[in-house]
Amino acid sequence: MNKKKEIVMSGIRPTGFLHLGNYFGAISNYVKMQDDFECFFMVADLHSLTTHPDTKELKGNVHRVLAENIACGLDPEKVALYCQSHVHQTGELYLYLNMLAYKGELEKTATFKDKARLHPDNINAGLLTYPVLMAADILIHRAKYVPVGKDQEQHLEIARTYVNRFNHRYGEVFPEPVAYNFDNKLVKVPSLDGGGKMSKSENKLATLYLADEDTDIRKKVMKAKTDSGPVENNSKKPDYIENLFLLMKLVSTKETLNHFEDRYNDCSIRYGDMKKQLAEDMVSFISPIRNKVNAILDDEAYLQKIMKHGAEKATEHAEITMKMVRNAMHLNYFI
Ligand code: TRP
Repeated sequence: MNKKKEIVMSGIRPTGFLHLGNYFGAISNYVKMQDDFECFFMVADLHSLTTHPDTKELKGNVHRVLAENIACGLDPEKVALYCQSHVHQTGELYLYLNMLAYKGELEKTATFKDKARLHPDNINAGLLTYPVLMAADILIHRAKYVPVGKDQEQHLEIARTYVNRFNHRYGEVFPEPVAYNFDNKLVKVPSLDGGGKMSKSENKLATLYLADEDTDIRKKVMKAKTDSGPVENNSKKPDYIENLFLLMKLVSTKETLNHFEDRYNDCSIRYGDMKKQLAEDMVSFISPIRNKVNAILDDEAYLQKIMKHGAEKATEHAEITMKMVRNAMHLNYFI
């Protein structure tokens, strides 16, 4: 049973303030993967420079993202949890991959076109080669699986193109990375205003953040849209009511959920009671995570230790890959 574990790599944007959708959508999956795979989870601080050249808040954001991921259950002893900028080998691989990356292809990337439209006065080369840096992040660990959402699939496709070009030109070094796609299996976390998923950019009052105080959580849940209740037994739930049940399913006990399902089905439900219960269960779910995040953020020495430890693990592994790369490319003039 000493089989070598397959390698998983993913990058997390240091935008901070994760919400319930991020928790059930991504982090809980990272946490599930940490026992079965050799995992490299990285805070993509360098990528953020392509659109956010002002770095004043970067350190705080990086710390928050690390603290949030650890508080949600990522174990820095099991996985390599590190910052992109601490693994210098990535920059070297990025340079080599840039020679395999064609400008025309990069210009067609959806995220490039979107961001270029959004920041017309800062269409820098780093933005254009964003997918090359992401490919370097993945390939530096010769990762096979990359847990990412749908919006990153095109970047992975590009990474596979570079793998094929590299392997074809210099010899087999990299496996083709594939998306570890949990998008379909995922519980979608609905927003509190009845429409769509919980998300950072949409309505902040309809999104529950892991940093929210108990009073905010209660306020947001109590504001969720309801109506005067069903009038016919066992009727179909409107979307906004279905969403409340979905949220309850995530954080409440089965008994609680069944209780309100029954009350809905026999038309005796009082949404005020349901929301009060949901609010309390939400508070019980979120507040321990929030408190843990804050405790970690207060302990800068601990965060430094985690970052150093992660950087060492990731750097050591990256250097093994780079030796293979330099050999394959005949950039080894001393031997
Ligand atoms: N581009 C990813 C995002 O926007 C973040 C990222 C950077 C990443 N490097 C990565 C994801 C490597 C997976 C693998 O979310």
